[in-house]
Amino acid sequence: MSENTLSFLKRQLKDIVGGYKLDVPECPIKLNQNENPYDWPSSLKQEVFERVRDEAWNRYPPFVPADFTSQVARHVGVEPSQILVGNGSNELMYAVFACVLEPGRKLVITQPTFTLYSLLGKVFGAEVVDVPLTSDMQFDIAGIEKAAQGASVVVIASPNNPTGSVIEPTDLEHLVAGNAALFVVDEAYFDFHGESALELTRTYRNVVVLRTFSKAFATAGLRFGFMVAHPDALPFFATAKLPYNVNIFTMAAVEVAMEHAVTLKGRLEEIKRERERVLRVLKGYPSIRAFPSRANFVLFETDRPARKVWHSMVRRGVLIRDVSSYPGLSRALRVSIGRPEENDAFLKALEYAMVEVAPEGP
Ligand SMILES: Cc1ncc(COP(=O)(O)O)c(C=O)c1O
Repeated sequence: MSENTLSFLKRQLKDIVGGYKLDVPECPIKLNQNENPYDWPSSLKQEVFERVRDEAWNRYPPFVPADFTSQVARHVGVEPSQILVGNGSNELMYAVFACVLEPGRKLVITQPTFTLYSLLGKVFGAEVVDVPLTSDMQFDIAGIEKAAQGASVVVIASPNNPTGSVIEPTDLEHLVAGNAALFVVDEAYFDFHGESALELTRTYRNVVVLRTFSKAFATAGLRFGFMVAHPDALPFFATAKLPYNVNIFTMAAVEVAMEHAVTLKGRLEEIKRERERVLRVLKGYPSIRAFPSRANFVLFETDRPARKVWHSMVRRGVLIRDVSSYPGLSRALRVSIGRPEENDAFLKALEYAMVEVAPEGP
């Protein structure tokens, strides 16, 4: 085979080959993907099975799932003309980027943040501009404002993954009102925080809000997310969405989820309480710096090599996320908040790791 066999590929792909990566050893305690630790009750699963049993599986779902979209709109409190549904919110991020990004255009992201934004930005050939968070992991509004000038897209995750930090609504409106760039606000962890940019989508054409059912709604395995935008902008974003992207099973499950939202989200308060408990214990270590979080995970730095701490915990059956390759986080790990007994197992395994792994010099 000649050396240039793959010369048809976009040049930038050689730096990001393989795409999104995740190291997932088998561990009984799984606290690495910010999932809801509580699965659906079997009675609700049964209800989904029954609804899907009567559907025609040989037929495509509706070309435009208008009834379903209206139900989601009602649930969220916006107009149906503002909603686009997707196979997870990541799919809609992809669709938005496909509509806006191309070589010669800029994508602004804060760092550290969810790694997919930069990856997708590069796939579309955009220049990715990083705006670092402040030393206490807060958004640098002046820095974002400066970088946004002349940019095509600015992505703000609020709460941000992996830091748990949030943007003030007034800061966000200031940015959106003063810039021509599209602001994509990723609210995957909205339910743990409670503040949203949704209202801005009624007024501004340059803001998109992404939400997911993967976290608080405990529906990660079924893949469902949606975007909310101004009714004038939404049809443009719809052009890049694949037809039939939400399957009949997922639609049935999401309908049941919305009807039983109180049950499915019933553990949110417990998860938030557990988050504060975990944070308190982490703060008790002089050699650990833990950051306050408005999501269902906590970021912390130790004076030990993060990879060794991660390995030590895996050996004790506890899987958390090593985020030490993220910009500015060379000593950091992220733990998702699980059930109380899982959080206890995490704290115990960490205690052990802090004994087993020696501190690293400065
Ligand atoms: C900030 C952020 N956005 C989106 C997602 C994924 O959303 P979905 O499952 O809807 O694609 C995640 C998952 O970890 C995330 O952290």
